[in-house]
Formats: sequence, C-alpha cells, structure tokens
Amino acid sequence: MRIIGVILATLLAQQASAQLADVDWWKTTTIYQVYPRSFKDTNADGIGDLKGITLKLDHFVDIGIGGLLLSPVFKSPMKDFGYDVSDFREIDPIFGTMVDFEELVQGCKDRGLKLVLELVPNHSSDEHVWFTKSIAREDPFTDYYTWRDPKGLNASGHPIPPNNWLSVFGGSAWEYNKEREQFYLHQFLAGQPDLNYRNPRVTKEMDDILGFWMDKGADGFRLNAMPHLMEDQTFPDEPPSNDPEFTPDQWGSLSHIYTTDLPELYSYVFIFRKVIDSKQEELGRQMVMMVEAYTSLENTMKYYGDEYIEYAHFPFNFEIITNVNNKTTASELKAIIDRWQNALPSGAWSNWVIGNHDRRRVASRFGRDFSTAVVIMGQLLPGTAITYNGEEINMEDTWISWADTVDPQGCQAGPEFYEKFTRDPVRTPYQWDDSAYAGFTTANSDKPWLPVNDNYRELNLAAQKLEENSPYAIYKKLTAMRKDMNAVRSGQLGTSTVGDDIFVFTRYLQSADEKNVLVVVNLAENEVNADLSGVPTLKSGAMITYHVGVNSSYTSGQELSPSSVNVPARGSLVFLYTNAASTTVLASLLLVFSVILSLLH
Ligand code: BGC
Repeated sequence: MRIIGVILATLLAQQASAQLADVDWWKTTTIYQVYPRSFKDTNADGIGDLKGITLKLDHFVDIGIGGLLLSPVFKSPMKDFGYDVSDFREIDPIFGTMVDFEELVQGCKDRGLKLVLELVPNHSSDEHVWFTKSIAREDPFTDYYTWRDPKGLNASGHPIPPNNWLSVFGGSAWEYNKEREQFYLHQFLAGQPDLNYRNPRVTKEMDDILGFWMDKGADGFRLNAMPHLMEDQTFPDEPPSNDPEFTPDQWGSLSHIYTTDLPELYSYVFIFRKVIDSKQEELGRQMVMMVEAYTSLENTMKYYGDEYIEYAHFPFNFEIITNVNNKTTASELKAIIDRWQNALPSGAWSNWVIGNHDRRRVASRFGRDFSTAVVIMGQLLPGTAITYNGEEINMEDTWISWADTVDPQGCQAGPEFYEKFTRDPVRTPYQWDDSAYAGFTTANSDKPWLPVNDNYRELNLAAQKLEENSPYAIYKKLTAMRKDMNAVRSGQLGTSTVGDDIFVFTRYLQSADEKNVLVVVNLAENEVNADLSGVPTLKSGAMITYHVGVNSSYTSGQELSPSSVNVPARGSLVFLYTNAASTTVLASLLLVFSVILSLLH
C-alpha cells in the first residue's frame, strides 16, 4: 500500500511540475520597473547609473523578483529624461558605458534575473542623426518623420501649423523648421519628433534596433506610447473634448480620434512581435513583449491580437491606476477587476500594474495602509505582477517646488498648473537607508537630480528590514506565495463583496488539497467584522488560516472560522484555506488506485 502511495504521489507531483515547467518565465513572476536615474548613483554625480543597478542586484533576489524592466538608458539629450533617444544603439554616458550594460546583463544572468528594456518606437530625439538628415532632405531619411507644409502665414507673417493637433505635453503638436521650411509632428516634446511608420524603412530600423538589444542580452521589451504610433494621413482637425478640466492648449481639450488608437497601428505591434519571436528562436532565449497603452479597455485588448494571431504577450493593465481611487466602493472594485478579467480574449495572459514613473505613487494615491492592500491585490490577482521601484517599501510622492521642477510635462504646464501634471514627485531617489540622501548617492556638493523625500529617515529599506510586518516584509511574503503556490500561479479567480465595504477575492484550484488563497479588503475607514462564510468558492465548514496582512490582530498561522473575521480599517488580510476533497475527486483517486493495483498484480 505504501508503494502505491509513493507512486501516486510521484505521479501527481510530476504532473504538477510539468505544468509549471511549461509556463513562460514572465507569467508567474514579478517584473520590477527600475527608473535608473533615481535608483542608485555610484559616481557621485547625483544621478543613478547602470553600475548602481548592478551593485543592487541582490535586492531583487531578496524581494523575489524575476525580471527587471529598465526605463530607457539609451543616448539622449534628456529633454524627456531618456525617452528622447539620439542613438538607439548607445548607452548614455550619464548611465555609464556599454561595458556597464554588459556587466548588468551578466549580473542578472548569474542570479537568474531577466532584463527587459523599455523603448518608445513612436519618436526619436531631434538630436538623432536621422532627424538632422531628414531636415536636410537627405535620402533615404527625407520621410523618416512626418513633415507638412504650413497652412499659410498669420497676420505677423509666421507659418500656421497644418492643423489643430496638440502635444501630450501641451501646445501645438507641430514645430516649424526654418531650414526645411516645413512643420514636423511631435506628439510629445518638440525635441521628440514622431517617426513616420508609413515609411517601411523606419519600421526596418526599429526592427533592427530590437534585434540589436536582444543580441546584447535583453530578454524582451516594453514598447511604450503605442496608441500614438500612427496618425490619420489626411491630417484633419481633431474635435474638442468639451472637458472643462482642460485649457484650450492642453492635450485633454481635444478628442484624439485622428492621432491615437488608429486601427493600422496594431499591425506594427504584430511586426515587432515577429522580430522578437524570431530572435527568441535564434538565440534560444525566451523573450517577452509588453505594451504600454493608455486607452479604452476595448482598445487595450486589441494588443493581445485576435483568435488567429497573438500580438503582444500582454498590454499593461492600467485599470487600478486609472479607475481605482480612494472613493472606490467594494462593489465598484469588484466590477473593475471582473471587467478586465472578462474582457481578456480566450487564452490571453493577465497582469496587474499599480504604479509607474508617470503616475502618482500608490502610497500617495491611497494612503499608507490601503496602498499595501493595493500591493497585495497586484501580487495575488491572476497574471504577471508589475512593481515600480519603491512600491515594495511603500515610498510616497515627494513634493517638488516649482523652482525644483524639471519634468517637461510639469515645466510646460507653467507655475499655475505644474502640480497637476508634473511627474517629478514619483521619480525621486530610492530610499535605501537613513544616511545622507537616503543612501542613494555619495554626492557632496552636487545634490541628487531631484530632492530626496524628507521622510527617508523613517521610511527606508534598511529600517523596514528590521521591522516585523513592514511593507517590505509583507511584499516578500507575497512574492514567495507567487513562487510557491500553484493557486497563485495558475488558480482561478473568484470575486465577491460582503456588505458595502468588504471586497473579497479567492485564488483557487479545483483539484482538492491544494492550498487556496482568500484575500479580504476593507474599503471603509473603520474596522469591520465580516462573515465570509458565504464566499462562493469557500466550502461550508472550511477553516481559514491567517497568512499576512496590514494592521491585523491575527498572528501568522492562526486558524479561524470565516464566519467572524475582523478586518482593520482600510486593511487587507490574506488567508490560506483548503477545500476538502470533493466526492468526485475522491472517486477519481480511487479509480487511479485500483488501476495501479491491477497493474501491480
Ligand atoms: C513614457 C513617458 C514619456 C512619453 C514620451 C511614455 O511612454 O512613459 O514617461 O514622457 O512616453 O516619450
């Protein structure tokens, strides 16, 4: 009988590990976005660098990360802090050298970490040699960018832009070039001319650039600003959005029906994917292709492809960033999560993003306690989890004065509006410890490029390592769950609400004795005693075991009945549970036993 038990256990274990081995690396792990300027400075110039990231690689291992997502480190005049690239094949000296990049690749490899690059195909810098040659109408570069004649001259003799299109950063999306005597399109800064993807040579250039970095060791890309890739060829004026929140020169004042989400852009997503797939085959390394697109849910889903062709592995899911806030109710939260999951095309892989270098930090959007609830959701909802640097210690936005403002989106908005638009507060240096400048830099006379948050003396990684239930400690427990628990990696999702304030979700496996996960989120400002016994995926009579959470009075490993659970104000608790084997599972196990028995005889 013991032999049969062992055989059965081995068979089941083999089946489970075969299932996991099939899973792509980017599916079950956490991908961590590093904003290099603010991560770690090793040459005391006040700006983070590649050597700094290499120096800190063990941090990622420590917190259970599987892949880094590196914001741009390419050569750049830094008008948009690296998102304006003047040479797509060079590392900017501010960040180091190609050797530093190679060392980073090696360091990642040594630790089993993947390295994914962020790249914006939509534009280059106006200091790129392609642009200089395009101005001079030097073939084949003449049509590398979108050039248009002026509409005419205004009363003072100045050329009038071809249409009313606006830049995301404010003001006209057209800049006149005296030498070429034409306007060029820039959907972001004038220093970021839009590349013209209607020219096949431009597509080929970008394909080669992707190949170049994969040859150098990149394990894939996040392609940014994709909705902006194509524009209507007839260049009509865009209609007003009639949104009173925006002044006429602000991007939000127009409805962007001719400059974003054009149907033809998706075929370029497919072209880029083909390049990535063929390199994957050539190099025998699994690549990932992710997309950044702030757009409607319907348009976001298009990046997955259709039933015949897969495009991106996944577009970033910005639902929590754009639709969840401090006023969201439990039923709204459930609806937002369900809506995303239900919109996924069949077989598509989900993901959850809670913050990035462009949006306010989670801790500042939701407050310190609830932000940990958001981190818990980001880690335990189905699919890939994405962390922006600092979220693992609950870093907060830093208030930046107008005088210290450097983000072009803030600067272009002017002193009156800059606080609404600036992204500086979310980009301030990582808080390593309580030494000068939070251990980010040893710069003496040169200050960090952005001020360190004043709270760094109490809010820093070193301090949280000593604290039992710090955001860091909770984060580590969550990433460990992603590694260790099948229910988190591949379990189904069940969502429900209890009363007005409690949102509950479970990650569960049908198959019997696996440990399942129950997450309880309290959206109210007061403690709630919740009866969770009606949660549909929880079998009646099942007990739940407290695992991790915020401000909880329970201790880890404590078993309790789901009929009375105290959920602290704005808190979030994670429990483990098993649903005892059902009769059908028992019946199939008995069947397997009898087959094995008859084989042994
Ligand atoms: C990046 C922004 C950047 C913009 C323009 C986006 O994809 O996330 O930070 O400003 O592209 O380059």
